[in-house]
Amino acid sequence: MSETQPDLFPDEEEPGGAFVTVARVGEIPEGRGRAYPVGKRMIAVFCVEGRYYAIDDFCPHQGASLAEGYLDGCIVACPLHHWRFSIEDGTWMDNTRIKIDAYPVRVVGDRIQVRIPPEE
Ligand code: FES
Repeated sequence: MSETQPDLFPDEEEPGGAFVTVARVGEIPEGRGRAYPVGKRMIAVFCVEGRYYAIDDFCPHQGASLAEGYLDGCIVACPLHHWRFSIEDGTWMDNTRIKIDAYPVRVVGDRIQVRIPPEE
């Protein structure tokens, strides 16, 4: 675990799947996102104030890449029609009862790692 980023999620060893390295520290610019394939999913990983966050990349409206969206703090606006999602927990800000998936992120050395659930 990096000293620069506390674990966003409690340390749940099992079950929960393995952490997968998606990028190196420095590859995701501050205030931006990048999309990475992890298993069968595309995961959008964002860097905000030196911390990393991971949510589904696929916008549930019409499938745009949320990693290409516009960040305002920890809220990302979809680049197509501006639906807004929390990058902390995936909440759709226009209807907070609905969420997309968010994933634990950790930094080990210079590796940014994301944990997704085991494939179903
Ligand atoms: S595709 Fe994301 S808001 Fe329309």
